[in-house]
Amino acid sequence: MAGNRLIIRLLLLGCCVRENEGQLFRSNRSADTQVLLAIESSCDETAAAVIDRELHVLSNVVASQTDLHQRFGGIVPEVASRAHVRRILPIIDESLQEAGCELDDLCAIAVVTEPGLVGSLLVGLTAAKTLAMVMRIPLVPVNHVEAHLYACRMAAGRDIFPAVGLVVSGGHSNLYDCHSSLEFELLGSTIDDAAGEAFDKVAQTLNLGFPGGPAVEQAAHIGSSSAFKFPRTFLNEDRLEFSFSGLKTAVLYTVRGTPGSRKPVPQLTEQRIADIAASFQEAVIDVLVAKCQQAIKLRCRQVLCVGGGVAANTHLRQSFQRMADESGIELIIAPPEYCTDNAAMAAIAWELLEQGRTASLDIDVTPGLVRQRTR
Ligand code: KG4
Ligand code: ZN
Repeated sequence: MAGNRLIIRLLLLGCCVRENEGQLFRSNRSADTQVLLAIESSCDETAAAVIDRELHVLSNVVASQTDLHQRFGGIVPEVASRAHVRRILPIIDESLQEAGCELDDLCAIAVVTEPGLVGSLLVGLTAAKTLAMVMRIPLVPVNHVEAHLYACRMAAGRDIFPAVGLVVSGGHSNLYDCHSSLEFELLGSTIDDAAGEAFDKVAQTLNLGFPGGPAVEQAAHIGSSSAFKFPRTFLNEDRLEFSFSGLKTAVLYTVRGTPGSRKPVPQLTEQRIADIAASFQEAVIDVLVAKCQQAIKLRCRQVLCVGGGVAANTHLRQSFQRMADESGIELIIAPPEYCTDNAAMAAIAWELLEQGRTASLDIDVTPGLVRQRTR
């Protein structure tokens, strides 16, 4: 139902543009300025951005759905797609207005088509297809995880590749050898939970609310990271993979007691919560830093880029910086607002466009991460 409403509204918009071509959408930008509109709706953020060819972000609008999912303690896919339907057009409108653009200024529409929640991705893709069709401009499909890495390229303001790249988000913990801005070779990923997912689940165990990452970080401020010795899976192994489910379970048993054990469980005081949060956070970061160090050595790279929502974590950023300084490599982490989901990072579409990697209007979404190549 909700999806049908969006399609009808978009088709009306399309008719309106066609009828008023050249009148309604008069541009106030010079003809030689090239800008694209990027749309991101892969998970629980509805986002749109306008980016010019020099990668200047003219607008970057993000509508978070945190308030809608909070009471469920996690993202509910159906709630997410319905919220995208309600918000997508106002968000696109706002991003165009903020950038001082009209629809006929746009030379392409970029849209995240993979990976993500199927219903959520479909909302963004439907809006993007309609705009591309009506405006008769190219449609550029973007991979969300690769866009997270490209956020580092945006932050650097110059070419940063080749580099080792780490994406740590709610859905992924992926380590790449980035040969160029469009060539990402997957070196390894998580075999169970993603890093952000572990933060979210531990926050739930500690009754810290949703989203878990910022809540755990906040709680950890007054905690001791050495109070608990939590597992660091694969830390001393060669494999470039992650596993966070054992760590998550260790936190659960620390809070609720080990099943079958008669040992009394200490009360969950504010200090104990803080100590568990800090010790958990340290364990995650130790593994992430160590695996990146391994990958850098293995591939003889000099640059490390880190993106995704978990990379907004201050302690993680400091730990990575320390490692980079000690190892003599360059570290590029996007600013926190470009780590969590946004549409500006879909600026990778400019590179795709240059390579002619556009899509026809019958393209579909790809909810799973299909371009995984583990060596
Ligand atoms: O990249 P992102 O916004 O969405 C996905 O692509 O999944 O990442 C969201 C994840 C969530 O799991 C959230 O808890 C985590 O990033 N996160 C953090 C922090 N901010 C967001 N984790 C740790 N510390 C943070 N400050
Ligand atoms: Zn993301």
